[in-house]
Amino acid sequence: MNQQAAELRVHELHNILNQYNYEYYVLDQPSVPDAEYDRLMQELIKLEEEFPQLQTPDSPTQRVGGEVLAAFNKVRHDVAMLSLSNAFNEEDLRDFDRRVKQALGEDPYAYVCELKIDGLAVSLKYEEGLLVQGSTRGDGNVGEDITANLKTIRSIPLRMKQPYTMEVRGEAFMPKQSFVALNTVRDEKGEEPFANPRNAAAGSLRQLDPRIAASRNLDIFLYAVADPGETGVTTHSGSLDLLDSLGFKTNKERKLCQTIEEVIEYVASWEEKRPKLPYEIDGIVIKVDSLKQQQQLGTTAKSPRWAIAYKFPAEEVVTKLVDITLSVGRTGVVTPTAVLQPVRVAGTTVQRASLHNEDLIREKDIKIGDHVVIKKAGDIIPEVVSVIADRRTGEEKDFHMPTQCPECGSELVRLEGEVALRCINPQCPAQIREGMIHFVSRNAMNIDGLGEKVIAQLYRENLIQDVSDIYKLTKDQLVNLERMGEKSADNLLQAIEASKENSLEKLLFGLGIRHVGAKAAKTLAQHFETMDALAQADMEQLLAIHEIGDKMADAVVTYFNQPEVSELIERLKAAGVNMVYKGPKLSAVEQSDSFFAHKTIVLTGKLEQLTRNEAKEQIEALGGKVSGSVSKKTDLVIAGEEAGTKLDKAMELGIDVWDEKRLLEELNK
Ligand code: IVH
Repeated sequence: MNQQAAELRVHELHNILNQYNYEYYVLDQPSVPDAEYDRLMQELIKLEEEFPQLQTPDSPTQRVGGEVLAAFNKVRHDVAMLSLSNAFNEEDLRDFDRRVKQALGEDPYAYVCELKIDGLAVSLKYEEGLLVQGSTRGDGNVGEDITANLKTIRSIPLRMKQPYTMEVRGEAFMPKQSFVALNTVRDEKGEEPFANPRNAAAGSLRQLDPRIAASRNLDIFLYAVADPGETGVTTHSGSLDLLDSLGFKTNKERKLCQTIEEVIEYVASWEEKRPKLPYEIDGIVIKVDSLKQQQQLGTTAKSPRWAIAYKFPAEEVVTKLVDITLSVGRTGVVTPTAVLQPVRVAGTTVQRASLHNEDLIREKDIKIGDHVVIKKAGDIIPEVVSVIADRRTGEEKDFHMPTQCPECGSELVRLEGEVALRCINPQCPAQIREGMIHFVSRNAMNIDGLGEKVIAQLYRENLIQDVSDIYKLTKDQLVNLERMGEKSADNLLQAIEASKENSLEKLLFGLGIRHVGAKAAKTLAQHFETMDALAQADMEQLLAIHEIGDKMADAVVTYFNQPEVSELIERLKAAGVNMVYKGPKLSAVEQSDSFFAHKTIVLTGKLEQLTRNEAKEQIEALGGKVSGSVSKKTDLVIAGEEAGTKLDKAMELGIDVWDEKRLLEELNK
């Protein structure tokens, strides 16, 4: 393809991918399957590799930056990010309304009510339509530049639909489901869980490595234009509609209310419906709609007089903790769980709550028999908040973690830097059982009808010893199980059969290799394409992949070095389980494990053996990017005769410099 054709196609791909992205992440109405999106994305990646000059900062490929920052820069907000004063009951709301009415005199007014999203306030700056900076609120005047992390949020457009220069504001958050999933993984890894989705979102956006934020499934609702007067709108609801039309994600539950009575009704209805939302809210924000009236009302030093935040009371209840039980997970982590006297909290009956680890039990001074305060973190996960020490009778018993695995009796260990106790016996029946439950789960082999109970039963009755035995199950064996009829046995066998055709990444994830989540499994499958190739990969090959770090590479090599693993894979192969990646392929260049892959290289001075163009072509064929200017992002400078300022700059920045001889050596490898 020539440059001109490439340019056209790149432009076309931007438009298509941006549209699909918008439909998926903003409208929540995908119009094509993921595989189609992946395919077009791979095409764009490949084109940008071939024609690096066509890669623009708003390209859909530029969501996850490669660079790990040393620190966040400070950002001064042009328009201060104020906070809101609070209302805690109906009376506070009526007082607010009286103050508004008094200040506006005879003028009629209306309110916009919005959900108060429980996340992290951020500001996004666009110049001529292009996202140039994203920052935290900080103290309201000075925040931190978290552009790279915010770009990973797919509902944030990298380019808005009109070339406006403006700053918009909103709340970045983590959906409840993602929060639950993240904490499950953290528990499994022996890491501290996040207390709630807000902390999880804030923690993710304050990471210096944007890949972490990218893996956290964050989202955003925009709720304001920093300087709405500039855009020609005259109402707050108008600016929200404007945000919609520019491709931003706003919250659709907002309502225009004519009276404070209507506001109070709205507040009450959301207090009720709140547990059903897929994200956390901690209240309702009420804003005077007219921008002119907002101006008339003005602001105090800290908050506007034209808005107020109604805060929901956190629902906390008291119940008795009757016991603490232990469970052993797939990774051997032993987790203590509180058994509670059943109690209603935020819409459901709660009878168990994870206590995570012993440190936490000590910290909260929890004893068996205590009365405890319960709430739902992220409105879903029951959590023991504190103990009511005043209600102790002296009958309460201290709890101590055992020194031996409750399932297999082997000695528990506490690995360095971890809070969790682990059973490290690979033969531990609990780990094997949980591992099999993981293997059949939805993101892994997705075998419908093989739930926890069925697996536990099959394992207890010695019908399966490891996951390869799943493929040997017969109808006779299945129909003899509790609560399994002919029909469900047939369906289950069909689901098992179908799972043999899964693409490699599902199997890889299902094997439960340490540190290899669903996303990493996909990356590995894409790069190595077959199980055998991956099994033979060494550290160097693994680390050459951008997304794979030390820990994961080490875990993969260690995993495949075990003879039991090779045997298991042979058994799976013999059973007819597919070992090949079936998704969209990476371009040849991406797969390259050459020294030049993913490196940015600058050529300067006169070369003897090669022309500049030849050098460029060869480097690019091996996956390198040749750039015209030296910057912090440059990995290597090739300096020929009479190299000038570019060489000086490279020296100044401490960038590696090679001569032509060294370049030829590497190219000829
Ligand atoms: S408006 C000057 N609207 O609540 C008005 N804030 O103290 C600025 N928040 O830090 C805020 N949802 O991060 C507004 N729909 C919403 C909101 C919202 C959440 C947060 C915001 C701010 C805090 C208010």
